[in-house]
Amino acid sequence: MANLENPAYILPCDATEAERLNQQHNLLFRVLGQRLLPSSIPLEKVHSVADVGTGTGIWLQSLASQAPQLSPNYDQRYYHGFDIGDAQFPSDSRSEDLELKFTTQDVLKPFPRVFRSRFDLVHVRLFSFALQEVNLKIAMENLLRILKPGGYLYWEDTNWTSVKETSGLAEGSAIKEAIFRNMRSRGLSSHIIDIVHRLGLENGLRCLSKADYHSDDYPDVNVLGALASPAIEAFLRKLSLNERLTNNSEEPGELETLFKLHQELNAKGLLRWKETFTTVVYQTPF
Ligand SMILES: C[S@@+](CC[C@H](N)C(=O)[O-])C[C@H]1O[C@@H](n2cnc3c(N)ncnc32)[C@H](O)[C@@H]1O
Repeated sequence: MANLENPAYILPCDATEAERLNQQHNLLFRVLGQRLLPSSIPLEKVHSVADVGTGTGIWLQSLASQAPQLSPNYDQRYYHGFDIGDAQFPSDSRSEDLELKFTTQDVLKPFPRVFRSRFDLVHVRLFSFALQEVNLKIAMENLLRILKPGGYLYWEDTNWTSVKETSGLAEGSAIKEAIFRNMRSRGLSSHIIDIVHRLGLENGLRCLSKADYHSDDYPDVNVLGALASPAIEAFLRKLSLNERLTNNSEEPGELETLFKLHQELNAKGLLRWKETFTTVVYQTPF
């Protein structure tokens, strides 16, 4: 893995984080009914796919390997993953076999000309810790430029206003407060999906589907809680690393203390995170 830490991004970019992203993908696959694409996106019309903020590329890899079985008249497709850092790009032979391409690209910068109007489908998943609210408009504009006319934008994310810690423990409230305070101070949006929806409509896109998946709909296995908790831990881990760098004291700071507390309570199964995960599909005008 190259480029181990990306200062512009608020989650870690290391092996632990890569493992979390892959586990998160498997959980989401279950939550979304073992589907990588919602039914509002007709796979037979999708020949070129970009996954922006691809991380380990697991969603793209899964789509590339499943597409031949999903589509009756399968023909060769083109898959390209983009991310601000290459630290987590897959280096295994599976990607080579599937002919996936991965390129570093900041979504806040225009994509190279060669990608203009190149893709039938652009997929974005979990940018809520990645993009500041003030930058969502420019990100949306850059994403739309790489879509063909009539192409699909598929965005999946968590509105952090939906995230709750329901154990009743004072420590749980303190951790939640710290997360929200740090999101606010970094300009991250707690309602990214609502902003994406507004920007989609402002850019003349047609909303084809919008689906919410609530923790409470999965009472036996708290799948979505199992999603939120490692994300929160990853956020606290990176914040506490930053705190260490700026703190002259040998004593652990507030965020490191909360990180350790979260680890400890979570390991004992005492925290009860709940959230709503939302998927939206838009189509660009022809
Ligand atoms: C929470 S991860 C999600 C990864 C992947 N979409 C998934 O669902 O497994 C967010 C990803 O966005 C990437 N990212 C952050 N800021 C970015 C930017 N400005 N442009 C492109 N990618 C960015 C991060 O490097 C990270 O891989």
